[in-house]
Amino acid sequence: MNIEYEKLGKEIQNSLSNLLTSYLPKHLLDKAEEKKTVKIISIACGKFIEAECLFDYFSSCKGLVKLYGIESDEKLLDFAKNRLLVTNKKDNIFLKSGDAAKFKNYEEWIKDGLFDLIIVRHPEITFNTDVFMKIFSNFDKLLDKDGYVFITTHYENEKRALKFLFNSLKLNIICEIENINAASLKKGDEIVFADRFLLVANLIK
Ligand SMILES: C[S@@+](CC[C@H](N)C(=O)[O-])C[C@H]1O[C@@H](n2cnc3c(N)ncnc32)[C@H](O)[C@@H]1O
Repeated sequence: MNIEYEKLGKEIQNSLSNLLTSYLPKHLLDKAEEKKTVKIISIACGKFIEAECLFDYFSSCKGLVKLYGIESDEKLLDFAKNRLLVTNKKDNIFLKSGDAAKFKNYEEWIKDGLFDLIIVRHPEITFNTDVFMKIFSNFDKLLDKDGYVFITTHYENEKRALKFLFNSLKLNIICEIENINAASLKKGDEIVFADRFLLVANLIK
């Protein structure tokens, strides 16, 4: 792999780790120890490159972390499955190729409890509007009452569209930031990958 590209990959991972450390409510770590488990799902996880950052963030919880990922593109998911980390942590990682808009695809996974954290990284809602509206409309049935939704976008208009959508769902935004120092992959002047905007939300109680 090109060294510059690899370096950028690490910077992008660091940007995400910093967002988790700075903006994910810390009580999730205490809750994990109390419940003896923390269930995290990345929806439309692609290659699931955030898996490392999530294990790092929850490193104090050691074997308590259960990480789930769902993705409709089988090739991307195969890439995720074959990654070393996924193989090494196979008892704690559950991956499924399927349509994240269909509630039945989660039923087996939530039998022993709802998710404490739902991550959606770059839903690109302005292109994938209908499907992600369906995906988000499942969140009140998937998220634990004390859980969080953590969503990043490349662009501000995507974040605005999500806020508008959250208004119509039972989701309450508790944190909204622009990560101005986010590392970004660009094609010419266009950003094609960056965790630039962040929304953290919970369920309206
Ligand atoms: C822009 S990519 C983001 C991927 C990954 N979260 C990331 O940040 O690298 C959007 C992803 O949504 C996936 N996707 C689109 N519709 C989906 C659906 N109905 N169910 C599951 N995944 C879906 C696509 O295959 C793609 O991997």
